Amino acid sequence: MSTRFISHEFCFTPLIKSGMMPDIMRCILENFIVIEGLDGSGTTTQLEKLANRIGEERCAVTFEPTDGAIGLLIRQVLRHEVTLTPQAIARLFSADRGEHIESPATGIRAIAGEGKLVICDRYLFSSLAYQSPDCGWDFVFSLNESFPLPEILLFLDVPPALCQKRMEVRNGKELYEDLSRQEAILHNYKRSFEAFSQTGMKLHVINGTVSPEEIHENMWNILSEHPSLLRY
Ligand code: TMP
Repeated sequence: MSTRFISHEFCFTPLIKSGMMPDIMRCILENFIVIEGLDGSGTTTQLEKLANRIGEERCAVTFEPTDGAIGLLIRQVLRHEVTLTPQAIARLFSADRGEHIESPATGIRAIAGEGKLVICDRYLFSSLAYQSPDCGWDFVFSLNESFPLPEILLFLDVPPALCQKRMEVRNGKELYEDLSRQEAILHNYKRSFEAFSQTGMKLHVINGTVSPEEIHENMWNILSEHPSLLRY
């Protein structure tokens, strides 16, 4: 059993090797919740449903890439409007995340530190899952090792083929949306869950193949007992 380390201080855990798997970040940010999943898994729909149900008094919802300056550049890359090396893209995601976490007053650390629940659509698990196939796991891990982990990670589990079917109605494919790429991404998601399994972060794998309403109820059952919501 590993020690659960909760801190609002900036956390830097050196990368220690344990067998093939680097030891993991052990810093957990209280009141911070992350939703992850493949493209087409429905993370954004679920974020909106939670935001509506919980209300802005009790929670802040946010997403990555952000709508800040670095995030907007990333969106151009995703839409094939700007071409960068995979390593530069991985660095941009990490830089965007740094701003997202640490910005004074508006950053995730500041808001969660005030006792408000922060729910984020995608976080460093996306970087490990999406950038590792091109850049290698260790490179991406090192770019993200200083960031705290969320208290709770909700992973929307949807088979890549079903995600592809759901995305058929969308206009144009973004950078990572091919089926074979999504299968590699899923593999790296699983690797990231394994890497963080001893940290104290609570991982919930949620069946994402049922209706959006049923998924929402399952997520709500997990979050509704959170102390920051019971306070109201
Ligand atoms: P979304 O806004 O539809 O979730 O799209 C964001 C895309 O960016 C999605 O394909 C996942 C990808 N992404 C990464 O590749 N790395 C990251 O670190 C993050 C946050 C997102």
